[in-house]
Amino acid sequence: MKSAIITGASCGLGEEYLKQVIQQMPEIEEIWLIARRQEKLEMLASRFPDRCIRCLPLDLTDAESFDIYQKELETAQPDIVLLINNAGCGKLGLLADAAFAEQAGMVDLNCRALTAITVLSLPYMQRGAGILNVSSIASYAPTPRMTVYCATKSYVSAFSKSLHEELRPRGITVLTACPGPMATGFLEAANIIGRSRTFETLPYCHPERVARKSLSRLRRGKTWYTDRGFYKLYRVLGKLLPHSLVMKFSKT
Ligand SMILES: NC(=O)c1ccc[n+]([C@@H]2O[C@H](COP(=O)([O-])OP(=O)(O)OC[C@H]3O[C@@H](n4cnc5c(N)ncnc54)[C@H](OP(=O)(O)O)[C@@H]3O)[C@@H](O)[C@H]2O)c1
Repeated sequence: MKSAIITGASCGLGEEYLKQVIQQMPEIEEIWLIARRQEKLEMLASRFPDRCIRCLPLDLTDAESFDIYQKELETAQPDIVLLINNAGCGKLGLLADAAFAEQAGMVDLNCRALTAITVLSLPYMQRGAGILNVSSIASYAPTPRMTVYCATKSYVSAFSKSLHEELRPRGITVLTACPGPMATGFLEAANIIGRSRTFETLPYCHPERVARKSLSRLRRGKTWYTDRGFYKLYRVLGKLLPHSLVMKFSKT
């Protein structure tokens, strides 16, 4: 069955990806939604009764979830035409003040889970399939006060570029999506609201637009999506200028 997998699908950008998959890809016969909150996933799925949607309530920081996912794949034998690795989290604050478990959890979700879900899904992907990995503008230059977060997103961007080259002979495209700040649950979970002048002054990206444009670019065979001209410029500056200088502005 032609299938799409979306992680972090219970709200925010992941919810927008579900809507875009439904609108842009009528050929998809089944959509798998992954996140921790089962009731949120089921409520979302119930809004699209004419589509076949399967909810997998999994905590992707728990290694047991990867065994469950693998078994689900072995049983269903899906033809994965689209994998969206969207689940992610951040934390604002100085590393020296942070709890280890919180920082390690960020690495587990943003890097380890994305890697695991990709590796486990690849045997079920054929020529023409696509992988969309949600990174961030935080991958363009180091971001003090979000040190681990920006490092995890640098991982996502480097992983995605390299994987695209590896998968080129198999005809599988990998797109890296790099949104700037979005008004989603991410901000509260990351403890950003009211605690960062940078976040208060930066232009915001709209999750619907990020999902729509990044998915449509992937379907046209493109490998990168940065939302808004402001962040396209930031990407160029992050490449041209010394990071010691960029960090004076990127500090959150
Ligand atoms: N919002 C921003 O400012 C911003 C900017 C740049 C990039 N991004 C990236 O965009 C992506 C989506 O974030 P968002 O803004 O939509 O944030 P969000 O509203 O907080 O959504 C995060 C999603 O990830 C899921 N999730 C969190 N922890 C999980 C876990 N341990 N296991 C499985 N699923 C988990 C959440 O569902 P449950 O809670 O139900 O598990 C939710 O569906 C992330 O990769 C984020 O890093 C966000």
